[in-house]
Amino acid sequence: MRQPPRPELSRRLLLSGCAAAGVAGLGPVARGASGPRRIRFSHVVSEDTPKGLAALRLQALVAQRSGGRMAVEVYPDAQLYGDDDEFEALRTGAVDLLAPSLSKFGRVGFPEFEVFDLPFLFDNLDEVRRVTQGGFGRRLLDGLHRQGLVGLGFFDNGFKHMSADRPLREVSDFRGLRLRVQSSRVIAAQMRALGARPVPLPFSATREALAQGIVQGTENPLSNFWTQGMHEVQPHLSLTRHGYLGYAVITSERFWSRLPGADQRLLRTALDEAIDFGNRITQTQHDKALASLRAWGRTTIHEPTMAQRASLARAVEPVYAELGRSIGPAWIQDVRRAIHA
Ligand code: LMR
Repeated sequence: MRQPPRPELSRRLLLSGCAAAGVAGLGPVARGASGPRRIRFSHVVSEDTPKGLAALRLQALVAQRSGGRMAVEVYPDAQLYGDDDEFEALRTGAVDLLAPSLSKFGRVGFPEFEVFDLPFLFDNLDEVRRVTQGGFGRRLLDGLHRQGLVGLGFFDNGFKHMSADRPLREVSDFRGLRLRVQSSRVIAAQMRALGARPVPLPFSATREALAQGIVQGTENPLSNFWTQGMHEVQPHLSLTRHGYLGYAVITSERFWSRLPGADQRLLRTALDEAIDFGNRITQTQHDKALASLRAWGRTTIHEPTMAQRASLARAVEPVYAELGRSIGPAWIQDVRRAIHA
């Protein structure tokens, strides 16, 4: 099931792709003399995940509706670009669509997106939808213009769980553990609040870092955990459901403004449908991964009690005050309002 990321292949693919199509320097909306308009969508996860499947749905919808005039090329598993260079690739026009996790926007100048990383903020996905699909979400996407980006929509992966080389039940179990985190200050602060040492690493390097013992644990939704084969190197998984992981689909203003209006509309409608599809399968993907993990049987799955979860939540509560200033207190107030609207 797992398709390990192969960065060395990525570079080759990129170079040979450019050479074969003769598109180097052609600009973001690459179109051969007679070929379809190519729209390159790069992401870092496996195809058999909510994001991977939504990207393929977008590909199919665009091919069908444009009668083959437009072609979404999907590059999963960080084949082309990973966490460290995908934003730059979008800005330079080397790719046209990305769907980074919301946790990855802070580092590139959008700290307000890190509000989604606040631990135990959301109880369920309905609350998330109230935030992403209302005015709050709109404001976040609009703000991407600050850096020449266009926000096209949000979608879910789901809730994250903790894994490690040891059982994680109580707060004291986290003490001194090196845990891989995404490049989010909020997630790093969350791990520190638990007494652990956060180690920011690209997604595509995570499994290897776990295998080598560079880090001893991590957090992820189950579809990522399973499809990356993290279970092969993590003997313990705790279903902590302590935080949310979702995505924003983005493109560049450069790419978007060069698309004819009718193509913009086609792409937007197809994307809305693909996002809707992604949101509908997130629970199934989670359940499927959990069933596969149970069948695999070599990762012990712990279900924290309510009291254990409550004590985890208490331990990470200081993150709100600590990171409030960098996220922006008004964003935190507003997200709470949107959740309870
Ligand atoms: C991670 O880095 O753990 C996730 O953001 C990967 C993803 O895109 O789901």
